[in-house]
Amino acid sequence: MARDKLVLAYSGGLDTSVAVKWINETYDMDVIAYTCDLGQGQDIEAIRQKALRTGAIDAVAEDARNLFIDYFVWPSLMAGALYEGKYPLATALGRPLIAQLMVRVARQHGAAAVAHGCTGKGNDQVRFDVTFQTLAPDLRIVAPVREWKWTRTQELEFAAAHGIEVEATKKSIFSTDQNLWGRSIEAGILEDPWVEPPAETFQWTVDPRQAPDQPEEIEITFDHGKPVALDGQEKDGIELIDDLNKLAGKHGVGRIDHIENRLVGIKSREIYEAPAALLLHEAHRELEFLTLSKESLRFKTQVSQAYADLIYNGLWFSQLHQDLMAFTISNQQYVSGTVRLKLFKGHALTVGRKSPNSLYRHELATYEEGDQYDASAALGFIKIHGLGQTTQAKHQLLKGKSGPRLELPSIIPPDKAK
Ligand code: ARG
Repeated sequence: MARDKLVLAYSGGLDTSVAVKWINETYDMDVIAYTCDLGQGQDIEAIRQKALRTGAIDAVAEDARNLFIDYFVWPSLMAGALYEGKYPLATALGRPLIAQLMVRVARQHGAAAVAHGCTGKGNDQVRFDVTFQTLAPDLRIVAPVREWKWTRTQELEFAAAHGIEVEATKKSIFSTDQNLWGRSIEAGILEDPWVEPPAETFQWTVDPRQAPDQPEEIEITFDHGKPVALDGQEKDGIELIDDLNKLAGKHGVGRIDHIENRLVGIKSREIYEAPAALLLHEAHRELEFLTLSKESLRFKTQVSQAYADLIYNGLWFSQLHQDLMAFTISNQQYVSGTVRLKLFKGHALTVGRKSPNSLYRHELATYEEGDQYDASAALGFIKIHGLGQTTQAKHQLLKGKSGPRLELPSIIPPDKAK
């Protein structure tokens, strides 16, 4: 009888290469390697070939960059999703897509299981597992790295004993993950949150101190919240993001140093490089300031946080996501226009914005000729606006001589308090 098949998320690195053989032996299953291009800058055909050399019975490699941009990156940008206000979520956005595409391959090949190379300490295992459990609850999930609990030496011994290619170049001193929306860098010396990231941490951005001495001005045009053009030239998503990563990176824009709260309870220190993502979030938010009402802007910050949390926490395929997206699409209907930014020594500074839907009305804002604002109406408005507070002051806060007194309850139980 033929062995069961398993679809493995294959990166071509040591862990997932070792995993091919380990799965053959430990689970007695055949491995189909799955690799997709999310703009990580690797030759996926070469990775596919390596998978076959390593012992996979079949290997699938596909370009998923447009799917990634249209269904994951742009929605997250429109929603303003920055985890803890800092991280544009490149890694987190990639996981549900990879897992979804793996499920498709598993169905095509009649596989019984899926596998990923995540450790047991991070968020990525959660994102993969939850997506698999949601979309294909019948598939068995195998997580070799989480299960084998080896030291690196043991892993290398296994690789040597099974003739697995180990790249001659020495392993990166960091753990990294990347796609077109950003690079994530952790571990090694970065585990000390006091240590400034050394130059080797960065690959997409120059040190802001070494950035050009002349600022560079660019214009980004949005249509219903989606970026569509750079300097007046229409671009597709891949080209736009590639161009902005290079442009902003050249000026040292896009470095993030984050002590972040992982879903699994650990605080970890992550460095990110996300030049295009940071720049687009900045430009997009500025256009929202011009085109969304005060109330919409305030409510939107809550949606942004909820949306970022659900991406980070691996809950992409949830009804809450659908609901938040419905709000976001409606909320973005007037977010069209152009933002002008200056890139200079690590900063992307908005210096101008315009929109056919602008709520900034010169005839209301101006102190010059053409003012249509009725300043006399301000008087009555101020009286009513402050009425609650002036009433309270008269009858409570400023009544008598003693003034306000606050006694705060203790959170320590009485028997413990001394
Ligand atoms: N902390 C980030 C996240 O949870 C990135 C993790 C990516 N992995 C890495 N090797 N740095 O999305």
